[in-house]
Amino acid sequence: MLWPETTKRTDDGELTIGGLAVSDLAEEFGTPLYIYDEVTLRHRARRAVASAFAGGPGSRAVFASKALELPVILAILADEGLGIDVVSGGELFVALKSGVDPHVITFHGNNKSKQELQEAIDAGIELIAVDNLYELDLLEELTTGRSQPVSILLRVNPGIDVHTHDKIATGVLDSKFGFPLWTDDAETAVVRALEIPGIALKGFHSHLGSQLFDERAAELAIEKIVAFAAEMSRKHRIEVAIVSPGGGMGISYLEGMPEMDVAEWMGATADALERSCAMARIPHPSLVFEPGRWIVGPAGVALYRVGSRREIDGVRTYISVDGGMADNIRPTLYEAVYTAELANRNGGDMTETVTIAGKYCESGDVLIRDIDLPSLEPGDLLAVPAAGAYCIPMASNYNLALKPAVVLVSEGKARLIRRRETYGDLLALDALPELS
Ligand SMILES: Cc1ncc(COP(=O)(O)O)c(C=O)c1O
Repeated sequence: MLWPETTKRTDDGELTIGGLAVSDLAEEFGTPLYIYDEVTLRHRARRAVASAFAGGPGSRAVFASKALELPVILAILADEGLGIDVVSGGELFVALKSGVDPHVITFHGNNKSKQELQEAIDAGIELIAVDNLYELDLLEELTTGRSQPVSILLRVNPGIDVHTHDKIATGVLDSKFGFPLWTDDAETAVVRALEIPGIALKGFHSHLGSQLFDERAAELAIEKIVAFAAEMSRKHRIEVAIVSPGGGMGISYLEGMPEMDVAEWMGATADALERSCAMARIPHPSLVFEPGRWIVGPAGVALYRVGSRREIDGVRTYISVDGGMADNIRPTLYEAVYTAELANRNGGDMTETVTIAGKYCESGDVLIRDIDLPSLEPGDLLAVPAAGAYCIPMASNYNLALKPAVVLVSEGKARLIRRRETYGDLLALDALPELS
C-alpha cells in the first residue's frame, strides 16, 4: 500500500485524503505539510496487534516511536493496543506525556545515559533493553537496594546479513548494537546481569535492520536467539520469558513495490519460535515485535508547493519545491526512493521526466531523481506518499528552515497536531547577551 487508505481523486482530478482536498489543506495549513490519515494509522495498528498474537500468550506488538514521535500519534497507537518503544529520555518523556502507560514502554539504545536510565526506572517502564556492559554497570549502581527488580532484555547481535542499505542494517558483524552471539560477549553479559540483584533478566532482543522484505531474516534471528537462550538456561538456569526480533518490516515507496505482509512476517517468526523451542526443549517465551515504519509510513503524505524550474539541455530538468532535505533527509542520507503525484489537478497524459529538488543549499538536496510527471507549474501541489516514517523525526532547521506543520485527517476533518515553526521559534533557544 503506497497511499493512505482514504486517498481518492475528485472528478476534476484533485487528490483528497480523509475526505479533504489537498488544496484546501495547503490553503489552511501551508506547505510543506505532512498529512496523516487516522483510518490508515488505526487499521495498521490493529493489524499489527492482531498478528502479534500468533506468537502465543503474552506476545505483542510495540511501536518504535523513533519512526514518528508525535504525541497524538503515540496516543492513537497506544489506544489501539500497541506498546511503545523509546530510545532516548526525550522519547520517553513524550511517550509519558502522551498518556502512554509506562507498563508498555521498552527503552532501547546503545548509549543510554545514567540520567536516562534513572528516568526509565523512576517511570516504572516495562523493559530496558540493555546494549552493553557499561549499561549493566550503570544499572547496578542505580538499582542497589531496590526491592522491586528492574526488568531487562539483553540486546544480542545474531550476525545476520540483511539486504538493506548499510546505514539501516544493524544485526551485522560490523555494528555498534548489541552483544555478538558468535563471541563470548553475550554469555559474559548474561553472567554479569545475573550478578546484579536489582535487575531481572527477562530475555533477549535483536533488531536486524530496517526496510526488510524477507521474513527469513527474522526467522533466522529467532533460531539463533533461541539456541543461545537454551544454552544459557542450561548453563545458568535462567528462564527466558521474552524474545524479540525487533522491527524492520519493509513498506512500498514506489508504485509496484511490495510491502511486507504483517501477518506473514509475524506468523513466520512465531513458527520459527515454536520450532526452535521444540528443538531446544525450552519453554515457549512470548514474542515482542517492534514495527515502526510499517505502522506509520503509508499513513503519511508530504505535500509540497512547486516553485522554480531549471532546464539543463540534454542533462535534466529540476523542479524545486518548498521543502526538501530539512523535512525529509532520507534521500540525501541513504538514497531512499520516493514517488510523487501532481495533487491539485489532473495533469493529463503527457508527462516529462524531471528531478524534484528541495530548496536547501546542498546539491544533494534532491527528493526524487528522474520521475515522469505532468508538466508542473509554479503553485502546483506535489504529494509524496509513504512519507509517514522517519521524515518528521529527522527534520532539521538546516538553512533555518521552519519545521513543517502536521495534520491528522479523518472523515472530512483536519486537526493540526503539530504547528509549523515560526521565525520566533528559530530564536527560542538562543541567548542574546550584550556584546560590549
Ligand atoms: C530496536 C529497534 N526496534 C525497532 C525498530 C523499528 O524499525 P522499523 O521502523 O524498520 O520497523 C528500530 C529501528 O531502527 C530499532 O532500532
